[in-house]
Amino acid sequence: MPSADKDTLQRFSRRTFLTAVAAGSVLLGAGGGYLTASGTLRRWLAGASRPEDESGLGVTELRQLITADSGTSRRLMWRTKEAEPEMQLEYRLQGSEDIRGLQPADASFSDDGVRVQQYAALLTGLQPGRTYEYRLVAGSRESAWHKLRTDAGGNFRALIFPGSQSSDYSDWQALVKGAAERHPETDFFANMGDLVDNGEDSHQWEDWFDGAGSLMDHIPFVPVMGNHETYDKEGKVRLPEAFLHYFDVPKNGSPHFDKYYYAFDYGPAHFAVLNTQWEELGDFQAGLLAEQQAWLKKTMQGSRKPWKIVLMHKDVLQYRMHERPEHREGISEAGNAFMPLFEQLGVDVIFSAHLHTYRNRGHIRGGVRDPRGPLYILSGAAGNVRYPGRWIDHALDEKVAPQPETGNYLTMAVDRNRLEIACFLPDGTEIDRVLSTKA
Ligand SMILES: [Fe+2]
Repeated sequence: MPSADKDTLQRFSRRTFLTAVAAGSVLLGAGGGYLTASGTLRRWLAGASRPEDESGLGVTELRQLITADSGTSRRLMWRTKEAEPEMQLEYRLQGSEDIRGLQPADASFSDDGVRVQQYAALLTGLQPGRTYEYRLVAGSRESAWHKLRTDAGGNFRALIFPGSQSSDYSDWQALVKGAAERHPETDFFANMGDLVDNGEDSHQWEDWFDGAGSLMDHIPFVPVMGNHETYDKEGKVRLPEAFLHYFDVPKNGSPHFDKYYYAFDYGPAHFAVLNTQWEELGDFQAGLLAEQQAWLKKTMQGSRKPWKIVLMHKDVLQYRMHERPEHREGISEAGNAFMPLFEQLGVDVIFSAHLHTYRNRGHIRGGVRDPRGPLYILSGAAGNVRYPGRWIDHALDEKVAPQPETGNYLTMAVDRNRLEIACFLPDGTEIDRVLSTKA
C-alpha cells in the first residue's frame, strides 16, 4: 500500500477490512482485492507438513540474525514443536574438536491464538573472518551441523529482497531459492519490509519462513519492518507483535521502540535500518519519527566506516498513479522527513520498498538529480502482490523494471572503494547495474 495514499491508509487502519475464512485462507489484500489460498492451506490440502530438521527435535524456522558486529557475534533463533528445556546450542570452529555449549533462552510468544515455542542464543567472542559450525542438541537427539561465517571486515556481498507480501508464498520461495543458488558467496540477506501481507497471520509467517529457509540457517538475516507487519486480522493497526518476537535485532537504546529500528556494521559499511511506520504506530506511541531523526544523526556521525547505507520500507518519492490523478509527483512524507538528513550525513545509498516496483533513481540532492547526492534504489517486489499499470514514471526515475513486473531481487557487492548493486528478474536475468566508487 503506497504511503502517499493516506485515504487508503485511513481505511485500512481503522476499519475492519478482512474476512478470515478457514484459518486465514481468504484475506483482503493491499490493493483492495482478495488474497487467497495460502501455501499453508495448500500444504494442508496436500497432506504435507513443514520441513523440519531430521533430528527428531522438531526444529523449524532456524535462523541467523544480524548483530551490531558480525565479526564477533551472531544471534541464532529457532522454533520447536514442543518445549525442550534440555536443549543446548553447540558450536565450534569448522573442523575443530573444541565444541562449546550454550543454554539458549526461551523466547516463546503467543499471537494469532498460536503459541510459538522458540529459543534464542547469542554467540559472542567469535573470531572475525572464520567459519564456525553450530547444532542443536537435546539428550540423545542432535541436529546436523550448520555453517556460520563471521565478517572479516573487508569485502562483502549481500542479497536484498524487496517486500515479499503475498497471497501465496511460492513465488517468494522460488525467488529466494534461485537467488541463493546463483549467488552462493552471499554474506547476509535483507528483506525490505512487508514480509507478510498480514502481520498477525501465523500461517503467513510460517510460509514466509519456509520460503526463506534456503538462506537463513547459514547467513544472517536483516529484517526491515513494513506497514503490513502492523496489521491485525481485522484490518486494524496494532503493535507488530510477531515481527518483534521473531526478529531479535540489535538494540537501539530506545525506551519505546527497541527492535523497531537499528544499526549494524558489515565490512566497510555502516547500516541504519529505519522504521517508516510512525503514522501507523502513532496510534499507540508517539515519537517514532523524531526519535529516529536524532538517532540517525548519532549513529551515522559515530561511525568511521567509509560507506553509509540506509534500508527503509516506505519510499522517499511520491508517484502519480493512473487511477488516482490527484496524486502529484514529488517527494513523499518519508522523503521530506529524511532526505535532507541523508544529504547532511553523507549517506551513500538508500534502499526502499512499499510500491512494489523496481526503480533506480540515481543520485538526488535538494530534490533534483545531482551526482553529489545519495543514490536512491526503490527495490521492487519479491512476493506475488504487484501493481501492474499503477505508477506513472517519476521524472527522477533513471531505470524502471520491464512492465508488467514479475518480481525481482538485488545483489550488493561492497569493498572499501566500490559499491555495486545489480537487479535481477526471478529467472536470473540482469536488468540493471549501478556502480559507486570512493577514492
Ligand atoms: Fe508497504
